[in-house]
Amino acid sequence: MAKKIAVLAGDGIGPEIVAEAVKVLSFLNTDMALGLSFETALVGGAAYDAFGTPLPQQTLNLCKNAEAVLLGAVGGPKWEALPHAVRPERGLLSIRSELNLFSNLRPAILYPQLVGASTLKPEVVSGLDIMIVRELTGGIYFGQPRGIRLLENGEQQGFNTLVYNESEIRRIAHSAFKTAQKRHKKLCSVDKANVLEVTELWRQVVTEVGKDYPDVQLSHMYVDNAAMQLVRAPKQFDVIVTTNMFGDILSDIAAMLTGSIGMLPSASLDANGKGMYEPIHGSAPDIAGQGIANPLATILSVAMLLRYTLNQPEAAERIEQAVNTALDAGARTPDIYSDGTTQVSTSGMGDAVLNALKG
Ligand code: IPM
Ligand code: MG
Repeated sequence: MAKKIAVLAGDGIGPEIVAEAVKVLSFLNTDMALGLSFETALVGGAAYDAFGTPLPQQTLNLCKNAEAVLLGAVGGPKWEALPHAVRPERGLLSIRSELNLFSNLRPAILYPQLVGASTLKPEVVSGLDIMIVRELTGGIYFGQPRGIRLLENGEQQGFNTLVYNESEIRRIAHSAFKTAQKRHKKLCSVDKANVLEVTELWRQVVTEVGKDYPDVQLSHMYVDNAAMQLVRAPKQFDVIVTTNMFGDILSDIAAMLTGSIGMLPSASLDANGKGMYEPIHGSAPDIAGQGIANPLATILSVAMLLRYTLNQPEAAERIEQAVNTALDAGARTPDIYSDGTTQVSTSGMGDAVLNALKG
């Protein structure tokens, strides 16, 4: 039976970038007889417009039954005034939570061809290859109680809850240590243990779990310092493990080290390696529909899908190599364009990768 891939384009530039990623995966599917089939569904604002909910039941069912999910991006100004419960972002967060995708891998790799595209000095970023492991189904994103309430004095109060159970910390820690073991065996856990009790527990549990991984060198860092170190000397890091919200913020910083937020893929995995794959960037409504978005983060997310869920490392490497070749050939979407290279459209970049794959 064919292995089903759920394709959720979402909003904004989502459909444009996902089309390129599917183009690449479809080619490999035929070329390497991967036995994949694709099924599309709506999520986010697009789903809200059609069904009044950002995550229709049929989309969730598809995600649950599929081997893996490929997602573009969700959200946009059109839906900003909606109540939180039906905002496009809720659709994405619900998939993460319903599928138990607690472990979010966000690799930040600087392709040498793009060293000039980073706003940081070449010597600071060249050779950069770090992995952020972000806890994805807990913390302040999901903690209860939450809301906006009216106080007795007539003033409104907004509140969210940052909460982590020991078991939630333990499982993301294991995931991070295992990731570190496959890399340079260096793990930095990022918290705010000097102020927040919940991350004091985080630090304690990560340290305990570390005893199972004596080959991995564990360090701890406060999040404010980590943000600074990421722009000061990012190459000191190999693997970073952190909470949901800190990971959201630090991964955007890490993305800019690679030249563009359009370069960072991600894998969100459950305990069995099932996953959702998406670029870390948003739906970029300001450039949607213009054919100028960078599809590489989504194409590289497909490589992660092949590696982590489908166990096809060779196919994954072919994509990564093809991205390299496309960049070598000078293909650049506007976000990574520099003098002496060739500006291409979203589909032009997809074609450049495809041509490189075809050899
Ligand atoms: C991300 C995004 C999402 C997040 C948004 C779209 C809800 O910023 O994947 O980093 O905050 O997790
Ligand atoms: Mg983010």
